[in-house]
Amino acid sequence: MAGLTRFGVSIEQELLKVFDKRIKEQSYETRSKAIADLIKEYVSADVIEGGGTVAGAISFLYDHHNKDMVSKLLEIQHEVHDSVLSMQHIHLDHNNCLEILAVRGPAEGIRSLYHRIKALKGIKLASVSVTAIDI
Ligand code: NI
Repeated sequence: MAGLTRFGVSIEQELLKVFDKRIKEQSYETRSKAIADLIKEYVSADVIEGGGTVAGAISFLYDHHNKDMVSKLLEIQHEVHDSVLSMQHIHLDHNNCLEILAVRGPAEGIRSLYHRIKALKGIKLASVSVTAIDI
C-alpha cells in the first residue's frame, strides 16, 4: 500500500463508544489500525468472492484408523499440490489427528479443496481461514 491518507468520519456517539470499547478489548492501540483492519476484511471478502488469490489454512480433525479416508485425503492433497504449501500433522491422542494445511491459490480452488476435505466420510470437523493477498 502507498502513503497514508487521513479522512473524517461522521458516526453516532454511542456507536463510537461501543466501537472504542470493543477495539480496546481486542488490544488495538489506535482506532486507525482497527478501522484499516475492518476495511481490509471487507475488501478481502470481495476478492475472495471474486475469485482472487488467497492464502491461509485449512484445518481438520479425523480418526487415523479410517485408512480409506486417509488414503483419499492424501490423493486429494496430491491432486492440488500446487495449492498446498505445507502440511502439519499432530497426533492429538490415540485416535485423533489434527492436520493443518497451509494453502495458497485461486479462491475458488481453495474453497473447493476445503469442501472436498470436509465432505470426506471420517472427517470430524473442518475449518478454513483465508485472506486475500492482493490487497
Ligand atoms: Ni496422527
